[in-house]
Amino acid sequence: MAGRALLLVALVLTAQLCGCTAYVGDGVGFSVEFIHRDSPKSPFHDPSLTSYDRVLAAVRRSKARSRSYAGGGSPGGAVSEVVSAPFEYLMYVNVGTPLTRMLALVDTGSDVVWFKCSNGTAGPPPGAPLSAVFDPSSSSSYGLVGCRSDPCRAIYGTSCGADSLCRYRSTYSDGSTATGILSTETFTFDDAPGGCVRCRDRPQLLVPRVIFGCATNVTGRAFRLTGNVGLGAGSGSLVNQIGAATSLGRRFSYCLAPFFVDASSILSFGARAAVTEPGAVTTPLIPSAVDAFYTVLLASVKIGNSTIAPPKRSPVIVDSGTVLTYLDKGLLDQVEAEVTRSIKLPRKQSPEKLVDLCYDVAGETEAWANLLPEVTLGFSGGAAITLPARNAFVEARKGTVCLAMSAVTDDGPAVATIGSIAQQDFHVGFDLDKRAITFAAADCASSYSSRPASVSL
Ligand SMILES: *[C@@H]1O[C@H](CO)[C@@H](O)[C@H](O)[C@H]1NC(C)=O
Ligand SMILES: *[C@@H]1O[C@H](CO)[C@@H](O)[C@H](O)[C@H]1NC(C)=O
Ligand SMILES: *[C@@H]1O[C@H](CO)[C@@H](O)[C@H](O)[C@H]1NC(C)=O
Repeated sequence: MAGRALLLVALVLTAQLCGCTAYVGDGVGFSVEFIHRDSPKSPFHDPSLTSYDRVLAAVRRSKARSRSYAGGGSPGGAVSEVVSAPFEYLMYVNVGTPLTRMLALVDTGSDVVWFKCSNGTAGPPPGAPLSAVFDPSSSSSYGLVGCRSDPCRAIYGTSCGADSLCRYRSTYSDGSTATGILSTETFTFDDAPGGCVRCRDRPQLLVPRVIFGCATNVTGRAFRLTGNVGLGAGSGSLVNQIGAATSLGRRFSYCLAPFFVDASSILSFGARAAVTEPGAVTTPLIPSAVDAFYTVLLASVKIGNSTIAPPKRSPVIVDSGTVLTYLDKGLLDQVEAEVTRSIKLPRKQSPEKLVDLCYDVAGETEAWANLLPEVTLGFSGGAAITLPARNAFVEARKGTVCLAMSAVTDDGPAVATIGSIAQQDFHVGFDLDKRAITFAAADCASSYSSRPASVSL
């Protein structure tokens, strides 16, 4: 008995010391680097852009993304597929055996998982990682999904081919498409530094038989992508699949470093997704019109010390791929009136008329964040998070600071959303088992490199 336990421990240690692949079944979880598209580690990084250019580009993307939610309705009301071409964060996934390292956009607003696959006639084109392709014929763990299987029935956008294979199709709001065959494959994740203190290599954690679209025909702007990892609340998403295949549970968390800091953000699964920082607050998830969305109830907004209660409790989604925060028009009007009342700075026109309220801080000697009020978001159940001014406002041009909020409208952004500017420097946990979201203020710029080791030898 004791000998056997010792042997097991030895095996585990060996696995960790040599960085060998370990099955994600230990209940601890894992963390990966969450790469902002503008960060130097991203293939979309453009060193010629100033930080203001990046902010403006991000705000423009935010508007395009939100628009894409508008057309997603289906007769039954529930929509499992909403995919938007604009995106903010990326992650690496190692697909197959042996591993092909693929960089995918991560979307907390969709349930879709697909990777670009070669179709047997063309090998990976040059110019990786952006044009990287996974070759299923060279992987020993690749599998197909039959037409009559549950996943083929459950996953949106599938159909039955003449060969009884499950065809897969993803359509983006801009008309881009990704089509291929629904497949299964082993996904291996590189655990983040700090997870393996004395290891020469990072440990890798393996999830078998992940269902994904093996896309052999990708058209339009989506072609720039190698893949799409949906982390939405619906059934096909990676978080639901990890929950079904392992003991990690259906949960993840992220900690978004501020855009203007060239630091990595972190994305965690399993026990590592627990948000335990002091002051953490939890609010329940409520049913969404779109399966993929994480929806909570906004009960109040406070500007400084003045409370504004929405006319009714307003559903709002929490999303990392939307940059601004979008509020229902009536509520936004009240927020803007209160912000206008409380801020004595000179007004300024918004760059490109992207947002409503901007102020001139060019002549101020104090840092702008000290001149503007905090904004407190109150949720159902009494939970509240206080956004420092740098989470509620954004410096869109040098000397011009704007309220980072906009209105939900019929022809534009269609769903009230807490966006990524508001979430920077918060550890945000999404737990589908407990049906809740937890927020805690955190120093996210150091979360990726300094995360405490979970393995102590
Ligand atoms: C296979 O892929 C190549 C290049 O990606 C494309 O030109 C060709 O039409 C594809 N063939 C099929 C059968 O999809
Ligand atoms: C690829 O997809 C596009 C859009 O659905 C379609 O028009 C085209 O015929 C497809 N190409 C191939 C080779 O299947
Ligand atoms: C808000 O209230 C606190 C405590 O009552 C007070 O110390 C602070 O000065 C108030 N702030 C503003 C802007 O009125």
